[in-house]
Amino acid sequence: MAIREIVYTPDPVLRRKAHKITNFDKDLQVLIHDMVETMREAPGVGLAAPQVGISSRLIVVEYAENEEEDEDAPKKLYVVINPEIDEASEDMELGVEGCLSVPRMMGEVNRHLQVTVKGLNRQGKPIKLKLKGWLARIFQHEIDHLEGILYTDRATKLWRPADDEEVQDNV
Ligand code: NI
Repeated sequence: MAIREIVYTPDPVLRRKAHKITNFDKDLQVLIHDMVETMREAPGVGLAAPQVGISSRLIVVEYAENEEEDEDAPKKLYVVINPEIDEASEDMELGVEGCLSVPRMMGEVNRHLQVTVKGLNRQGKPIKLKLKGWLARIFQHEIDHLEGILYTDRATKLWRPADDEEVQDNV
């Protein structure tokens, strides 16, 4: 296992539509382990394979579902292969995002308040997740990465955080 190097804009891999995963082999399991380690080391709360230079449809997210209400809520690790947004609420919410691949930048992005995400787990079994709030936002951000979309494309406002500004969890 190893920490992978995070790629930054304007690396073209961040702008490519990532390939569907069909092989649930050992290489994939190694990539998953490495991405989890890389996300924790960064630190970040989400990471998409293109952010480590691999144009494959794989995301990892680690976040406590109720962290907004309870700081000590246990964190949960999600690994989703070929994720797709199946349903999205009409309700939208503006929120502040940062991205590990776009250093020293923050932006305000409008996202669906709730989404249902379909995909496969690391063994290739179908999974479905009902997500809301910040967790739903993280998934929308990561799934965008698989389409070559960066949050800066969607942001209604972008700025460089001041040194003393509290920086949002990066994804
Ligand atoms: Ni990102």
